Amino acid sequence: MTNVDIDAAKEHFGKILKEQLARVEVMRSSSQLTDYTNLDKMVIGVVGGDGIGPFICKHAENILRELLRTEIEAGKVEVRTIEGLTIENRAKHLKAIPDDVLDELKKCHVILKGPTTTPKKGDGWPNIESANVAMRRELDLFANVRPMRIPEQGIDWIFFRENTEGAYVLGSKGVDVNEDISIDFTVATTQGCERIIRLAFDHARKTGQNKVTVVTKANVIKKTDGKFLSVAERIAKEYPEVKWDDWFIDIMTAKLIDPYRRAEFKVMVLPNLYGDILTDEAAQIQGGVGTAGSANIGTRYSMFEAIHGSAPRMVDEGRAQYADPSSIIKATAMLLNHVGFVEKARKLEMALDLCTLFEKRIRITGRSDGATGEQFGKYVLETVARKDLEKAWNDASGN
Ligand code: IPM
Ligand code: MG
Repeated sequence: MTNVDIDAAKEHFGKILKEQLARVEVMRSSSQLTDYTNLDKMVIGVVGGDGIGPFICKHAENILRELLRTEIEAGKVEVRTIEGLTIENRAKHLKAIPDDVLDELKKCHVILKGPTTTPKKGDGWPNIESANVAMRRELDLFANVRPMRIPEQGIDWIFFRENTEGAYVLGSKGVDVNEDISIDFTVATTQGCERIIRLAFDHARKTGQNKVTVVTKANVIKKTDGKFLSVAERIAKEYPEVKWDDWFIDIMTAKLIDPYRRAEFKVMVLPNLYGDILTDEAAQIQGGVGTAGSANIGTRYSMFEAIHGSAPRMVDEGRAQYADPSSIIKATAMLLNHVGFVEKARKLEMALDLCTLFEKRIRITGRSDGATGEQFGKYVLETVARKDLEKAWNDASGN
């Protein structure tokens, strides 16, 4: 290897460090989470995304508009469609999020987002960064909150995945030092660890669950995971009533499929990449990635999305209308809850449980032998409107 290669890599590393130090400064001055109930008018942006995104998002948007009908009519809430976050438009601008789309997103308080295609090497699209990752970074959505429940097994998990650093923040900024050596970077900052860990402990305290599990691989990844764990140790002291333990990510993936132990886990907090992987596993245990919703929370903005991808294959095969909208509808319930419409959120959750777990009058298979997303959306809307919703849910769930 020549010195030139090393110098170029060093220069690149220096630039990255400066950017990360600047990010720390921003985090230092960050304020409290927005209180949405104080806004004169709340703007909810709906971004369809691509692939099956616009198909499933449409049904979630209908439900959102119906549940907020009074507030929309009174001018307290605006639901706004934001165009242009498609793979075609992103490829055209060679940007994860084209500038004008980002400007529109920043005019909203909260965003409901369909899945967006993430190009990978060799698939024909320019190798631009994931729109998810870019949006989480640009809007500083530091907490990826993913709940999973299986009431009949006593499973009630909520994952607090760090969402703005770890292996992701420089995922597009690694270096091919020369043709033989490639290096990626993983970043943990004290401020970044603190804010996600605190959110998890706050949640455990607020809900009375009083139990937090910290997941890392700190035995091997000494610096970044080491920091995550030592920050957790420090923060935990501020929450004496919350019990906590720490697990390594490998054994954690095993424990989630251990029927004797898994219901003991409640609130889990973990770095970005482990959170990505573990939450797909947890969603599969719950019934498939199509069944889970995902909240991306920051101090100024928040964004709610389906946990799954854009399934371009379904579109290519002409099956997009059969795609399951339950994940994005679940995200809609999480959105309503987060911005303060707690009762409406609860109703939507109960209706979804009835439609997907208990009554199941309509079954979605992703193919023409099952119901369409539109039929499912109507079913959810009818269920939300039922006078006996609460009773039906209580009877069905054995509450
Ligand atoms: C998720 C997704 C994203 C991630 C992809 C689309 C970049 O898998 O939201 O979990 O890795 O975070
Ligand atoms: Mg994922």
